[in-house]
Amino acid sequence: MKIPFVDLKANYLSIKDEIDNAISNVVNRTAFIKGKELEQFEKNWAEMCGAGFCAGTSNGTASLELILRSLNIGPGDEVVCPSHTFIATAEAIVNCGAKPVFADCHDGTALIDANEVRKALTGRTKAVIIVDLYGQPADHDAVLEAVADKNITVIQDAAQSHLAEYKKKTVGSYAKVTSFSFYPGKNMGAFGDAGAVVTNDEELFKKIKMLSDHGRITKYEHLISGTNARMDNLQAAILNIKMKHLSEWNEKRRKIVKKYKNALEDRVTFIDEESFVRSVCHLCVVRTPYRKDLIKFLEEHEVSTGIHYPIPLHMQPAFKELGYNAGDLPRSEKISEEVMSLPLFPEMTAEQTDFVIDQVKEYFR
Ligand SMILES: Cc1ncc(COP(=O)(O)O)c(C=O)c1O
Repeated sequence: MKIPFVDLKANYLSIKDEIDNAISNVVNRTAFIKGKELEQFEKNWAEMCGAGFCAGTSNGTASLELILRSLNIGPGDEVVCPSHTFIATAEAIVNCGAKPVFADCHDGTALIDANEVRKALTGRTKAVIIVDLYGQPADHDAVLEAVADKNITVIQDAAQSHLAEYKKKTVGSYAKVTSFSFYPGKNMGAFGDAGAVVTNDEELFKKIKMLSDHGRITKYEHLISGTNARMDNLQAAILNIKMKHLSEWNEKRRKIVKKYKNALEDRVTFIDEESFVRSVCHLCVVRTPYRKDLIKFLEEHEVSTGIHYPIPLHMQPAFKELGYNAGDLPRSEKISEEVMSLPLFPEMTAEQTDFVIDQVKEYFR
């Protein structure tokens, strides 16, 4: 049996009629930019997240850049972020002219460690980006405490945690500002690139909207020099449909991960989940010192896996000039050597999950 890592086709087929209708509706009206679907998306996503405002954006990297620019973060400023994350988190900082400063993660959860954030702060720190990796919200309160009285903004990168919960609050409702990516493989994935920013701060929201749309106040009147980072209307129409199914899909992911855990926790180490969060299981990540062999064995048995992520950001060639060395962030380095992600998507059948479990067991046998 061939097991894909994710199955976007199965997801599309499960809601094909709704999606096809939504697409042809936009296409027939040729309402591609700033249409009613985008307005609907922004209203509904803000509501679902429990936030006051939502701005649709072109992707998750753009969302982070817009947030940093709206906070006037630029050259001479530092922004603390995890090293164990996708590169976009740090790229956005660099793209704004600021300097990323990497903080190590917790060993169990792989999420940014507030104590390490504290150590990374300097007089130039303007913000901290916390990342809800693998679907689990990072400890926002602990980071807030670490930056208390310092005029430092805590930004949440929720690219992987659509509708996850932190201390019974939905992601997007409690941080100053939260960034989302709707890259196709995310829990709620667009049919291309898309993202969003949510916040309860109306001024910040207005600035982000303006920046994302050429800084315009009327069609050809531009108050600030912005960029083009809008969500297009076709993506908004698709996400409006997907939004209705997201909670159910998240629940299915949780069930599959639970099944993996019950069957495999004496063979591999699962990423810890804090008692005060409810993960949306974007990825099912396990740790094993036998990663390379296990991946090879699974590949030979037609089970696809992933590695999120194999190189910590402080060791990436792209950030060489920041001057980090091997050994600087030991937990991020160790985790990046051991993590691997098992196939996981809401439409995964019991037979598919059982097959993956059997193959992992077979390897350890
Ligand atoms: C943690 C994290 N941050 C940011 C991004 C960037 O999002 P995008 O690919 O939509 O630019 C991603 C995903 O791709 C991500 O996983």
